[in-house]
This record gives sequence, C-alpha cells and structure tokens, in this order.
Amino acid sequence: MNAPIVRPLAELRSMVRGWKSRGETIGVVPTMGALHEGHLSLVRAARASCDRVIVTLFVNPRQFNNTEDYAKYPRTEHTDAALLAPLGVDALFVPDGDEIYPPDHATVISVSGVTAPLEGAHRPGHFDGVATVVTLLFNMTGADRAFFGEKDWQQLQLVRRLVQDLKLPVEIVPCPCVRAEDGLALSSRNQRLTAEGRTRAAALPRTLFEAARRIEAGAPTAEALALAQEGLETAGIGPVEYLELRDGETLGEPQLGRPARLLVAAWLDGVRLIDNVAVTLR
Ligand code: PAJ
Repeated sequence: MNAPIVRPLAELRSMVRGWKSRGETIGVVPTMGALHEGHLSLVRAARASCDRVIVTLFVNPRQFNNTEDYAKYPRTEHTDAALLAPLGVDALFVPDGDEIYPPDHATVISVSGVTAPLEGAHRPGHFDGVATVVTLLFNMTGADRAFFGEKDWQQLQLVRRLVQDLKLPVEIVPCPCVRAEDGLALSSRNQRLTAEGRTRAAALPRTLFEAARRIEAGAPTAEALALAQEGLETAGIGPVEYLELRDGETLGEPQLGRPARLLVAAWLDGVRLIDNVAVTLR
C-alpha cells in the first residue's frame, strides 16, 4: 500500500495527536526527496524502532545558496511514494512551501561553532536554512526520534548541537552512509553526473579512504592530504573545495584520542560531491 501523502499541516497534526494519545512512538526521516537506498536505509531504521514513521519531503529553498542548484534539484514525488510503498510508512508529509514559510515568516535558527568551517564556509546561509527547517519539521511532526545519515556528517553534528542547545525532546539517530558498489556515496545529485563522470567519481571515496588509512598508519596529515589532493586532480575531480581532517564532533581541530573525520567537497561535471570517513588518531 502506498504511503498516504499528507500535505496540510493540520491533517498531519491530527494524525500525530491520534498516535500520541495511544502512546505510540513516532520516528521522522526528513528528506528533500529523489529518494535512493541511502534514504530508504533511514526509513528502515525508523520502522525498526518506532511505532509510527513519518517521512518528510520538502526541497527547502532556504538551504540552497545557489538558485540554479535549487532549480535543478530533482523532484520525483511519484517515484518517491512508490519506493516507500513496501516499507510501511505511516505518512509521507509533503508540505506546501507557503505553509512552511508564509510571507511573514521571520524566524531563523542559527547554530554557531560546528557550522563555521567546511560546508558553512563554502555555502553561506546553508546551515541556517537546515537548522530552521529541521526545527520546524521536529515541531510539526512531534517526533520522538529523528534519523539522519552520516553521509552529511557536518549536518548531523549541527542537528545534534541544535537538539541539545534547544532541549528539543527528540532523539537523534545517526545512520551509516550507504555507498554504491564502487564506493561512491549515494546522493540525489549523482543523477546529474554524465556516464563518464559517474565512472570517474569512484576516485573520490577511494582517495578519501586511502588518505584516512595513511593518516592512521602514522603519515603526517599534511602530506597525506597533499597526496590525496593530487590524486583527485589526476582523476579529473576538481576543483576540490575542501579536504580536511577535523574533530568528529566539534568539527574543530582534530584531537589525539578523540574520533576524527576526514571530509571532502569537490566538483565533478558541474556537480558538487561531498563525502567523509572516520579516522582514528593514535
Ligand atoms: P537529503 O539530502 O534528501 O537527505 C535526507 C537524509 O538522508 C539526510 O539525513 C542524509 O544524510 C541522508 N542520506 C543521504 N544520502 C545518504 C547515504 N548515501 N547514506 C545514508 N544516508 C544518506 O539532508 C537533507 O536532505 C536536508 O538537509 C534535510 C535534513 C532534509 C533538511 O532539509
């Protein structure tokens, strides 16, 4: 059975009220649609641990710092609903843009610190858009648990910070990054790669994992990163916006004895790809 598509907030709220009155737990999976196995893995995790599952589909204009990227973002609501059908979703919430952001909407949620480097430095306003819409989605769905992919590592740390700081009554559940057979992290934007670009793209995760291995084996970080940068360029991937080793939680300087993360953003075929991998510093 297809997941019931719910558009008006009032309708969602009345469903949620019914579930809560029966003491059922609610899981939410926020998405911008164009669903793939990465998204579906989040839905399965939600299904496995919550009585009710809401998937939200909203291409959030506030988090696009580039109007062309927003215009070109794939919109495949029908296919998305069909993909969710076998997973037992209780509601596919597809809100209207005007209901999320009416013309007099004036509130922006801004998280500092964790959002400053990397994506934050290269996509001005992006994380304010994410923090604002995620807060709205939590409030609208009343979710007990929310599922986020480690694919968007910095976003996941932002959401954790947001929930702690605002004392939002929602548990954030991180889910591992789902990759294609050649290692490329699944992403809605991969659809925009040419066939040739898609083949070349496998060099991104390969180079990232190699650099992580070198650093873990004791190579100086700067050296491993320079080598990786060169490897990406040779593979025809670039420009590289950033390739940095950071603390896994604060996204500040990496610290010995704390989980670190190697994160990259690079362009290929006019498509911006991001990826990240864990690094253990000894
Ligand atoms: P979107 O890019 O659609 O991703 C929705 C969720 O799916 C995010 O938590 C993301 O990390 C996760 N995801 C994407 N690709 C994945 C993969 N290959 N493996 C595992 N999880 C993956 O992220 C957003 O939308 C938006 O910023 C949103 C949070 C919905 C706010 O608008």
